[in-house]
This record gives sequence, C-alpha cells and structure tokens, in this order.
Amino acid sequence: MVADAIKVHWEDGTVSSYSWFWLRDHAKDPISFDSRSQQRELFTAMVDPDITPIHVEKSRDGDSVLVSWPDLHEPVLYSADFFFEFMQPENRLNSWKKTVWDAQSISEDDYSMDWSQFLQDDGLQQLMTRVTSNGFALVKSCPTNFDTIAHISGQIGYVRHTIFGGMWEFEANEGMSDSAYTPKELRPHTDGTYSHDAPGLQLLMCCHYDAEGGDSIMVDGLKIAQCLEEDSPESFELLKSIPIKGRYSGDGVELIAQRPVFKTDDNGEILQVSFNNYDRAPFRLEDGLMKKFYHALRAYEVLANSPNLQWRHVLAPGEMLVFDNWRVMHGRGAFTGKRKMAGCYLNREDTESCARKLGLMY
Ligand SMILES: [Fe+2]
Repeated sequence: MVADAIKVHWEDGTVSSYSWFWLRDHAKDPISFDSRSQQRELFTAMVDPDITPIHVEKSRDGDSVLVSWPDLHEPVLYSADFFFEFMQPENRLNSWKKTVWDAQSISEDDYSMDWSQFLQDDGLQQLMTRVTSNGFALVKSCPTNFDTIAHISGQIGYVRHTIFGGMWEFEANEGMSDSAYTPKELRPHTDGTYSHDAPGLQLLMCCHYDAEGGDSIMVDGLKIAQCLEEDSPESFELLKSIPIKGRYSGDGVELIAQRPVFKTDDNGEILQVSFNNYDRAPFRLEDGLMKKFYHALRAYEVLANSPNLQWRHVLAPGEMLVFDNWRVMHGRGAFTGKRKMAGCYLNREDTESCARKLGLMY
C-alpha cells in the first residue's frame, strides 16, 4: 500500500506528516512555480485530489527528498529546510517582538534617537527596532521640513494618501472637521477608526513651538489590554468582540468602518488596537449589553488616561514621533500659543514589509 504522506522524524522525537497533495501544491519546479516572481504557476484546482508520487527518494545526506510526480517530467526537490519551516501545521501571520511598557518601565534609551543616527547605515534598523519594540520612536534634531518626512517615510515604504492628503502640516485650525486641528486637549486615541484599514504608522514632527502646554501623549494599547485582562476580564472579552463603528463626516466624505477595540487572531494574540471616542459613531445594542459595553469603555478610558500608563513629552521643534497606530494610542495636552506640526501616514503592510526585510519579524 502506498503511504498517504511523507513523514519526517525529527531529532526531538516528534513526527511531522506532509500529505501528497500539499507537497504537489508546494512544488517549486519551473513548471509549477515562477522563482523570479515567487508566484505559483500551478493550477491547483486541476490537480488530481488523490495524486500520489511515482517515486520518492531521500538524498544520501538526508538533507532533501526527490519526488517524481505523474504530471511532471522532472523530479521535484524538497529540502530539509522546507520541511522544517512547515514542521507544525499553523497558519498565522508573522509578527515582531514587542516590549509592553508603562510610564515607569519605559526609558529614554528605548525610544529615543537622533536624526544623525538615522542617516547612518543602520539608521533604519535603529528606528524600526524602536518602533516595533515599543510601538514608538522619538527622532530628535530633525530638519523641520517636508524633506525629512519624505526621507524617513520613503525609507520605510511610501506615504499614504487620505482625506488629509499625503504629507500634511497643521496648526490650530477651526476650519477642519477633525478634533486634531483644535488647541483643546486631545485624549488618547488611534487614528482611522473610520477606515477598514487604519494607517499602520504615523510620523508626526513638531516644526514650530511657541506655546504653553501641548505635550504629546503615548499609551501602550497592549499594556491597557494586559491591565484589563487582569482586573476586568469580562470587559476585556467585550472589547475583543463588540465591533465599534468609527466615522469621519465632513470635508466631502462620509467614511464608516467598524472593528472591536482589540482585534485578535485565533490564538487570542492582539493584532490591532483601535479606539477613538471622538470618532465613535452611534450604535445601539440590547440595553443590558450596552450597559456592559459602557462599563468596559469606562475601564478602558480610565487606563488610557491614567498618568501611570502615559508617556508625556512636549515636542521641541525638530522632534518627530514615529508610532505604530495599530498599537499605541496618541494624544496631546491642551495648549495656548502657536504650534505647527507636520507628518504623514504609512500603510500597515508596508511597515511590516520594512520590518520583515530588516529581520525584525519572527
Ligand atoms: Fe490623531
């Protein structure tokens, strides 16, 4: 009887099984796979569901297996590395290493760097290591012009265009619909809750500061999640499951999207934190559930607005925050005077691509 799979016995005693069909689907011969574009050429749906190889041969050193398939002229090589990569059946997206922090645990070395450091050969690595680990970086002594933002965003990926344009600058501006344009306190929030694909990264640079107050606020959304899970598990569960509508209405658009505060994968790992009470659109649940939701919202906001969890710093001209909008909430204290900021958004997948290329994903 023909076996229905290749079984690999690993040194630690575990056994992995790879079915024939899966192996045929993952063949990297020139007919089935374009190695230049890394795209599958095989029309998988047309492969015989019961396909079995004609011949299977292990190399002498045990480093690879040659499989001859009935629909291919040449045998296909499968390396030990390939088997190792798919040792466990799993289907999750890679992530980067994160250090959860609060006001007490974070130190300047964790997040701070200089523009001159960014210009060094490993500058991008230094920046992205800080951003992925803590969710934000502070780049000091930047030239206060758009070229700086274009340079950093261009190294990471490319600028995302939204209702605010590509690269933007703003000071207190009562003409815009968004709360970010006022001098009032801006409580911690994430941007783009009204977007199905919220901006992944935000660059925010202070260009001019002749004011009192206006300190920037960063809060680690993962720390909020940790605290909630410990102190208020029922609220944590609700915030993982109830989709909240976000809305941007004005400036010629009517944008609406929805997702829970904590978006998780099948393993319960948090993929995205989103919350913006300013942009929260009306929705109504059954009264009992609505009450529980408001209780959870209150627990969340108490943490987000707690000095114990907030990093606060008045940005001086030439200081730029680069932060993960899928993890860190940002805000700003009230201010009087003149404060001019510039920045841009980047997409999440481009940010991830940059981290992946730098070897920061696992
Ligand atoms: Fe914002």
